[in-house]
Amino acid sequence: MCGIVGYIGEKQAAPILLDGLSKLEYRGYDSAGIAVFDGEAIHMTKSTGRLKVLEDLTHGGALLYGTAGIGHTRWATHGEPTDANAHPQINKDGSIAVVHNGIIENYIKLKKKLEKKGYEFRSQTDTEVIAHMLDYYYTGDPIETIAKIMHRMEGSYALGIMFQDHPGEIYAVRKDSPLIVAESDQGNFMASDAPAILKYTRKVYFIENEEIVRLGRDSLNFYNIDEEELTKEPTMIEWDIKAAEKGGYDHFMLKEIYEQPKAVSDTLIPRLKDKDIIIDELGMTDEEIKRIRKIYIIACGSAYHTGVTAKYVFEGLARIPVEVDLASEFRYRNPIFEPDTFAIIVSQSGETADSLAALREAKAHHIKTLGIVNVVGSSIAREADNVMYTWAGPEIAVATTKAYSTQLIAQYLLALKFAKVRETIDETTFSSMIDSLKQLPEQISFLLSHKENVQKFANRYLASDHVFFIGRGIDYAISLEGSLKLKEISYIHSEAYAAGELKHGTISLIEDGRLVVAVLTQPDLYKKTISNILEVKTRGAFVMAVTTVGNTQVEKVADYCIYIPETNPYFTNSLAVIPLQLFGYYVALGKGLDVDKPRNLAKSVTVE
Ligand code: F6R
Repeated sequence: MCGIVGYIGEKQAAPILLDGLSKLEYRGYDSAGIAVFDGEAIHMTKSTGRLKVLEDLTHGGALLYGTAGIGHTRWATHGEPTDANAHPQINKDGSIAVVHNGIIENYIKLKKKLEKKGYEFRSQTDTEVIAHMLDYYYTGDPIETIAKIMHRMEGSYALGIMFQDHPGEIYAVRKDSPLIVAESDQGNFMASDAPAILKYTRKVYFIENEEIVRLGRDSLNFYNIDEEELTKEPTMIEWDIKAAEKGGYDHFMLKEIYEQPKAVSDTLIPRLKDKDIIIDELGMTDEEIKRIRKIYIIACGSAYHTGVTAKYVFEGLARIPVEVDLASEFRYRNPIFEPDTFAIIVSQSGETADSLAALREAKAHHIKTLGIVNVVGSSIAREADNVMYTWAGPEIAVATTKAYSTQLIAQYLLALKFAKVRETIDETTFSSMIDSLKQLPEQISFLLSHKENVQKFANRYLASDHVFFIGRGIDYAISLEGSLKLKEISYIHSEAYAAGELKHGTISLIEDGRLVVAVLTQPDLYKKTISNILEVKTRGAFVMAVTTVGNTQVEKVADYCIYIPETNPYFTNSLAVIPLQLFGYYVALGKGLDVDKPRNLAKSVTVE
């Protein structure tokens, strides 16, 4: 987490840095800071609070003069959000400034060593160690010095660095935290993510682990940790800048909810050809697909929830056993890697530290890996054996919506493809399921056009303190996501339960007026879940049901019903999640909360 930017060129740096940081605020928003070099000295302004505070302090950047600078927006890891802990961090005389995304794991050891050498620390951050180490090892040659400290630092970092005695240059370096460098006629940029630079250029260089970059006004030089110069090819980013702006919506989250029909269609349609599913990027022959004996789906948060759904789909259609793992657990649980196991890593950002580590663990055991990733050129996209992109476009709101929906589509496509190749479903079922998939974008649009049904209900439940989501099978997977959407942005405690499990403990929490959201989209499980609704109703719960149109028997037991259009039962998540996303959104909105930037969170979790 944290976002870093840097600029060097012919324009004033501070307004460009502030603008870049505004596009990266989703990565953290505890505090922000910039440092600008005026040709003689480095001047720095930083502050706790949102970027707006920094913008006001610097009068939109006008108070900091100079054409080279670095900036930072923070999600606190080491040291609470205070002005002193904000970045940039500087060495003792302020001649070296550093911004950092990542964690220096051995910083305590390094700090003790520096303290013995007489260095005094002004912050609790691990980043200050970097500034002092650069000072301690400084030879006058920035590349040599950066390489030296890289040998001593353990952990993850993307750094932007300025040296006062090297005017006209800024430096960037990375290990296990995302970093791009971008080139334009008016100067060069560094950033944690593309939206920060899209306004100025689309020509970017993806920086690999342990690479160092010297950015000049009109030069870029790349080095490895052995200080050997490298040649790198640029990539043209295709995302449109408009896609990373609000476009008339009050919040990115609402905009992204409304972009779902297009995102789903963009992920789906190019892979449907001549009544078949073509996933060229899978890089597997039919023989290899037939040989798969087990699938691991590994991810975090909402991406993990798509994996919980996909398990039902893969097992039901392709008859392949699936284990869904939280990446943070998978990497440390010593999993069993058998031959013919296939690992799918699902990630919007492609930078989630635990998911990336799990991918590396699978690769180290020679397991074939596929990344289902949204951000083109991200670490997981580059390191997985193959990558299947979800074409959701930039997702800015911290709570995922459209990326989640496209992750589902990618996994439906894979499961159907595998089922066809392994002949576990017949041609007629295959074609009718493709027809169902094709209808999803329009069905999602239909649900969005009836958002008032959810909005008016949400407004009645702003004061809830606990909410339960229940469902069975795929409906349980949908409940997991509905519950997360509500709690992460509305701060209302909520839990998702497999409906049959409630009576094994949690039902004791049901009391008069407690809101229970029941999901019933699986025809073979309707009756069972209706019994569970009756169990909570008897104990005073108020039940909102999300069910398929025509399932009118639910109306007899639930207090409020939201209907989704009919689709193949394997694909109902794609529809049922829409009212649940809207429910979370409208509850948070009604409570006056910052929907796009909920407290304590950041979009891209690049620390363990
Ligand atoms: C919740 C949410 C998170 C992410 C999780 C994984 O709304 O967005 O739970 O799903 O942090 O992130 P990615 O997909 O970038 O690996």
